[in-house]
Amino acid sequence: MKSHKIITPRDALSLIPSPSRIVLGHAAATPIRVIDAMIQEKQRFQDVEIVHMLSLGSAEYTHASMLGHFKHNALFVGGNTRDAIKRKQAEYTPCFFFEVPSLFENGALPIDVAIVQVSLPNEDGLCSFGVSCDYTKAAARCAEIVIAEMNQQMPWVHGNNTIHVDELDYIIPCDYPLACLEQAPIGDVERAIGQHCESLIKDGDTLQLGIGAIPDAVLMSLHDKKDLGIHSEMISDGVLSLIKSGVINNRLKPINTGKIIATFMMGSKNLYDFAHNNPMIELHPVEDVNHPMVIMKHDHFVSINSCLQVDFMGQVSAESIGFNQFSGVGGQVDYVRGASLARNGRSIIAMPSTASKERMSRIVPLLETGSAVTTTRNDVHFVVTEYGIAQLKGKSLSERARALINIAHPKFRDELTRAYHSRF
Ligand code: COA
Repeated sequence: MKSHKIITPRDALSLIPSPSRIVLGHAAATPIRVIDAMIQEKQRFQDVEIVHMLSLGSAEYTHASMLGHFKHNALFVGGNTRDAIKRKQAEYTPCFFFEVPSLFENGALPIDVAIVQVSLPNEDGLCSFGVSCDYTKAAARCAEIVIAEMNQQMPWVHGNNTIHVDELDYIIPCDYPLACLEQAPIGDVERAIGQHCESLIKDGDTLQLGIGAIPDAVLMSLHDKKDLGIHSEMISDGVLSLIKSGVINNRLKPINTGKIIATFMMGSKNLYDFAHNNPMIELHPVEDVNHPMVIMKHDHFVSINSCLQVDFMGQVSAESIGFNQFSGVGGQVDYVRGASLARNGRSIIAMPSTASKERMSRIVPLLETGSAVTTTRNDVHFVVTEYGIAQLKGKSLSERARALINIAHPKFRDELTRAYHSRF
């Protein structure tokens, strides 16, 4: 490692021009030391655009006091950036997760600086991107300047997940624990949803699951299955007990047999320790993992994602509540499309039947004005709530509406039925 490359977080600040566009390493690989230095010396920056999907941490660059210094361009909206989007201090850019690297590469969203986290190098001089390969690897490839926090605590995760130390322009040696994600509490509603999803999953299937209580509840219901595989945008702690019990063994996956394939992971230290130097787990760039044409190669593929609202036609909004941008498309459509192209593929949209402490139904005659359609009515396959399963594929508009009313919360069914009769 060349000694002139080694810098401190404070030295990194002079490498970031104003204005400029920077991309941060994703999710649990958010480069916290450089961000903290940027926040402390915010007066050095004007109009620096910070691009990312999820970030773990306080995302202080989105706070009101940072106005004029930093602006956030969100490719996904998380809990720590939602308020800035609401206040219009940050903006959301719609895009499929699998296409993010191509935005950096083809000039649609060129990058000046990538600030990433990597592991220590191995004897060949290769560093692992650790828990986040996704677009982080592409950002390091496409940016004019690459600044890497080389974190002693970043696990070595296998896959097409490395960068040579010579490709890092500047290195900041670090030693801090990765950010962890707490597991969401699982209640009766999630457990019932998990059991309905379980009935749609067969021995030998390859699965994709998102983040949160519903995916975890689905995984909890799969202990009697056999020979499951995982090919998923992300993995979290929910997979660990099924790996340990041998239910997830990836034995029947038609490609990457024997391996769990993902593009990032987010969970507890236990998960990160399990993934460290574990040949069973590989992370690959999101343009490969999430590409529908890669997903479709898995016969018997099942995707499970969640949403905020579904209308009578089966239009799924997973990202906004009216004009309020709540999250983003993420990989939902990548997987819904991949699953529908796969032989014996199934895609499941699983959600509680109500929101806001049962005050509103998530099944609605019409999406709220301003809501974005995430998964179209042409793509949707199964919708699951705690009250059952609605298969929408192959169903007419009126059949869809009836199937959805059947799985709505009973207290909203009369109202929904009246809306049905005035429409059909
Ligand atoms: N109207 C008003 N409020 C609503 C609502 C609606 N239709 N639907 C949900 N909400 C509220 C909930 O009540 C909850 O607020 P509360 O905690 O104060 O009660 C909040 O919004 C979050 O809803 P919830 O369903 O608990 O969110 P979640 O954390 O389970 O995430 C998605 C659900 C849809 C936002 C999330 O799955 C997502 O972002 N999906 C798109 C991306 C994707 O699918 N990626 C796939 C691979 S990771």
